[in-house]
Amino acid sequence: MRSFPFSVLLMPGLLCACASDMRVHGNPEIGADAEARSRDLADRFQKQLFAALTAALEQEGPAGAVGVCAEMAPAIAAQLSEESGAVVRRTALKPRNPSAAPDYREQQVMEGWASSSPMGADGKPVSWTGWSDDGSFRYMRAIPTMPMCLVCHGEAVAPDVAAAIHAHYPGDRATGFRAGEMRGAFSIRWDKVALRRIAFRKRIPAL
Ligand code: HEC
Repeated sequence: MRSFPFSVLLMPGLLCACASDMRVHGNPEIGADAEARSRDLADRFQKQLFAALTAALEQEGPAGAVGVCAEMAPAIAAQLSEESGAVVRRTALKPRNPSAAPDYREQQVMEGWASSSPMGADGKPVSWTGWSDDGSFRYMRAIPTMPMCLVCHGEAVAPDVAAAIHAHYPGDRATGFRAGEMRGAFSIRWDKVALRRIAFRKRIPAL
C-alpha cells in the first residue's frame, strides 16, 4: 500500500518525460532557436580567439603564440560551453589537438565540404545543421584558412614555430594548408537537456 502514492506520482512524470523528448526532438521552433544560438556561439568563439591570436602574434611572435593558442582555444571553448549548456568545440579532418578529432558525423560533414570551397555562394563559410538519433541538435560551420594562419598551418612553417608546435602537439597533422582551403569547423551540439532548457525559456509547450 505504501508504494501506491509513489507510483501514482511517478507514472505521469515518466510519461511526460517521454512525450517531451519526442516533441523536443525534431521540433522546428527549438531547432531554429538552437541554430541561432549556435551561430552566435561560433561568432563569439571566432572573435575571441582571433583577438587572442593577433595579440599573441604581435607580442610574442608566432613561436610564442603557439603556447597562447594552446591555452586560450580550449579555455574559450570550455567557457562558451559552460555558459550556453551546449558542447562548443572545433574539429578538423587533420587535427593539431588530438581531442579535436572528428566523430563520425563531423567527419562526414567535413568530407562533404573538403572537395569544394569552404565558402558558400553568399561569401560566408558553409554551415550544416541536423538532428542525431540520440535526440541532440547539431550545428557545424566551416573554418577557412586565411593567409595569416599559414605561419602555423601552412606548407612552409618556420623551424622555431614547428618546434614549438611539436613540443605541445607531437602528433600534429595540421600543416600543409593553403589559403582558401577548409582548415576545420566549429561544431556545436545541444543534447536533450540543453534543448529542453531552450524550450522552457521560449515557453514552447513541449514541456
Ligand atoms: C601561432 C600559431 C597559430 C596560428 C597563427 C593559427 N593557429 Fe590554428 N592552431 C594553433 C594551435 C596551437 C592549435 C591547437 C589549439 C588547441 O589545442 O585547441 C590550433 C588549432 C586550430 C584549429 C582546431 C582544430 C585542430 O586542428 O586542433 C583550427 C580549426 C585552427 N587552428 C584554425 C586556424 C585558423 C583558421 C587560423 C587563422 C585565422 C589559425 N588557426 C591560426 C596554432 C595557430
